[in-house]
Amino acid sequence: MSRVVVTGRIPDAALEKLRAEHEVDAWTEADSIGRDELLSRVSGADAIVSLLTERIDPELLDAAGPQLKVVANVAVGYDNIDVPACTERDVVATNTPGVLTEATADIAFGLILMSTRRLGEGERLIRSGQAWKWGMFFLLGSGLQGKTLGIIGMGGIGQATARRAKAFGMEVVYQSRSEIDPSTAAELGARRVDLDELLAVSDVVSVHCPYGPATRHLIGAEQLAAMKDSAYLINTARGPIVDEAALAVALRDGTIAGAGLDVFENEPQVHPDLLDLENVALVPHLGSATIETRTAMATLAADNALAVLRGDEPPTPVR
Ligand code: DGY
Repeated sequence: MSRVVVTGRIPDAALEKLRAEHEVDAWTEADSIGRDELLSRVSGADAIVSLLTERIDPELLDAAGPQLKVVANVAVGYDNIDVPACTERDVVATNTPGVLTEATADIAFGLILMSTRRLGEGERLIRSGQAWKWGMFFLLGSGLQGKTLGIIGMGGIGQATARRAKAFGMEVVYQSRSEIDPSTAAELGARRVDLDELLAVSDVVSVHCPYGPATRHLIGAEQLAAMKDSAYLINTARGPIVDEAALAVALRDGTIAGAGLDVFENEPQVHPDLLDLENVALVPHLGSATIETRTAMATLAADNALAVLRGDEPPTPVR
């Protein structure tokens, strides 16, 4: 029996899988585990099942000890894990691609509708008790049909978002490190362009690339200025890909029409200037937040940890 440390609450189905084979020490409080508590709990762990709120860095890996074999992240993004530090210590790192694709694309599209159709503004207005009545020019938004969606990062989630855009009658352009499969591109009618062209032609820009040093502030003041003043920016990937302070200025000055954010630069903090703006929809990192998806993510993370502990190749290692 190995010792598995789970750094936060995960669905029972995944915990039971782990418990069937190993001794499991799971943090079950609603509040996140504190750093000191985490450092002491991981000592002697053979596997760590981690949430994206926990930093898996050299200090933590060393606190775990040389017997540690695997860090199984319950997230597709793994910017919380120092992968080279894991590799140096012969620790396998894994993530959960695929299982949250549709849920995250749903939230991206939800934010597209929230921002272009001003749903948050409408909701706030009704709840404020302010008088209102139907009017020809009341809370007018922008339609999507015939407009162009620009997708930055055309992996699974980007493609699933493109599929939704097609159903809404939108054209799709994308910027990606590599060309997508030609039959998928044909099915989606998606054309690969560079970032400059994407920013210039898109009515909605949706960010779906991974976060790392190369994508930090990929969207800053210069890129926002390159967008149409009628365009919207959506981010469901990672907060620091967008320079939040620059975005707040662009939204305030009308450089772009609006934005929808599910992720933030310093989560759970949100840049205070964004909070005062009507033309930005803000939701608290809900991309994968469905019962089905969270269960699938945790189960896949458990399968990854169990595979490595058995000496097998895990289903979804980070490469
Ligand atoms: C992920 O898996 O990276 C998501 O951000 C979780 O919601």
